Amino acid sequence: MVKHVAIIMDGNGRWAQKRNKKRTVGHYYGSENVRNIALEALDMGIEVITLYAFSTENWKRPEKEIEYLMKLPAVFFDKFLDELMEKGIAISTIGDLSRIPEKTRKVMENAVEKTKHNSKLTLNFALNYGSRDEIVRATRELVRDQPVEITEEVFSSYLDTSDFPEVDVLIRTGGDKRLSNYLLWQLAYAELVFLDLAWPDFTRDEFRKCISEFEARERTFGGL
Ligand code: IPE
Ligand code: IPE
Ligand code: MG
Repeated sequence: MVKHVAIIMDGNGRWAQKRNKKRTVGHYYGSENVRNIALEALDMGIEVITLYAFSTENWKRPEKEIEYLMKLPAVFFDKFLDELMEKGIAISTIGDLSRIPEKTRKVMENAVEKTKHNSKLTLNFALNYGSRDEIVRATRELVRDQPVEITEEVFSSYLDTSDFPEVDVLIRTGGDKRLSNYLLWQLAYAELVFLDLAWPDFTRDEFRKCISEFEARERTFGGL
């Protein structure tokens, strides 16, 4: 029933700081947790999870932290690419990848290419993603193409998420209740779940609980 889950993986830095560790240690354990959640999503038959990995606003962070975050995809895929292949998990990306370091981009492109025939679950990473940036990029292309009609469907087809089903649920860990420029168009009718747990502490069980709670809720999309 739930096809597409979007996740704001927040709270890594505070998780580490609480343990007297560097913020980057939190990012490392956070990236490890992506595997756990992906495996649970696979078991649950979810089609897509879209993970907020780096926002257009995250460039404001200290250079060292950005550098570390840009190296993490290589660490992650070195470790897990074989397993992703075994399990039939595909990788995809949204966001403006043209602005991320070439090395990181190549790592992502390689993972996308290698896994492109996998069809059990798509792990979609939002990298240098910002919803306003996405909408502006889409509008630029729309103006260039001048389609005969501009409908919601046509507009959606210009967004980075055009290949995916509607987002059913948004989960944000880390305790804050805001969207931080994530999927503003796509979340129009999503169920929103905000959790106090930091991302590295967000377990497969918690994930399953969130999704089943949502499945119990009735969605009427403005109707009765
Ligand atoms: C989210 O964790 C991960 C990224 C933004 C890359 P944070 O780094 O924002 O962690 P907190 O919110 O400072 O704890
Ligand atoms: C959102 O978290 C971005 C990612 C998880 C990648 P932030 O920590 O950057 O968001 P704000 O700054 O608290 O809104
Ligand atoms: Mg944060």
